Amino acid sequence: MDKSDISSLTVRDLDLFIEDRQILKNINLVIPNNKITCIVGPSGCGKSTLLKTLNRLIDDTDGVRYSGEILIGGKNILAASGPDLIELRRHIGLVPQRPCPLPMSIYENVAYGCRIHGLCKNKKQMNEVVENYLTEVGLWEEVKDRLNSPAGKLSIGQQQRLCLARSLAVRPEFILADEATSALDPVSSKIIEDLFVKLKEKYTIIMVTHTLRQALRIADHAAFIYFGEIVESGDAVKVFKNPEKDLTRKYLAGVFS
Ligand SMILES: Nc1ncnc2c1ncn2[C@@H]1O[C@H](COP(=O)(O)OP(=O)(O)OP(=O)(O)O)[C@@H](O)[C@H]1O
Ligand SMILES: [Mg+2]
Repeated sequence: MDKSDISSLTVRDLDLFIEDRQILKNINLVIPNNKITCIVGPSGCGKSTLLKTLNRLIDDTDGVRYSGEILIGGKNILAASGPDLIELRRHIGLVPQRPCPLPMSIYENVAYGCRIHGLCKNKKQMNEVVENYLTEVGLWEEVKDRLNSPAGKLSIGQQQRLCLARSLAVRPEFILADEATSALDPVSSKIIEDLFVKLKEKYTIIMVTHTLRQALRIADHAAFIYFGEIVESGDAVKVFKNPEKDLTRKYLAGVFS
């Protein structure tokens, strides 16, 4: 996939089944560029499944089948003749709920993807990449004197920022974040939130959160999903403050009360 091709993400008529159960039902969604889109909804309604479908990590699930289209820059990534999956996941990185540093040094965690994808020509370039992305996530000053120590020794909040640096270092266009702050203390959580707000200048961010207050603080765009269906999506202020659908209103009232 050519980088210049990647300009927008649209989900059309997406149905997804695991074994005999339909998990996603006729999903239609437009994700605006360089904005934060928050996906909210009750537990088990299909938020993680939807995120994992966007970079086809869902393909690893036994018994999965889907139909419909996910158009990125006009190309359907669900097509049988779709993109190379490793390349697709470079363009669409996923930050999971719990940080998952690789069992290697802080430096190697950030350098890893660049090595795999051959993005750096030499050690000097690699050093620059590591410094740039650790700086981008606000971690450089905290770790610059111990780049060779194991990533697992960092605090959980630092590990989450390291994983974000690792995702960014392969220069994705989209960042998928699945409850990326739920395992963090309030201070680390705020750091990641602020980072997302800064990063949206360069990336399109799609995040799942259970914290509606967080969604209210940082979302530009929002989608409310309920038992596999998008009930309502659009401008975040509109969806959260003045929803069109009763179901959205009830859900928000329940959570906010
Ligand atoms: N590997 C799997 N095999 C069978 N069913 C699955 C699998 N993964 C998810 N499901 C089912 O799909 C539905 C949606 O799950 P999903 O993890 O997407 O929900 P979610 O909205 O992310 O929930 P939560 O807020 O609790 O994380 C659930 O009913 C779940 O049991
Ligand atoms: Mg989930």
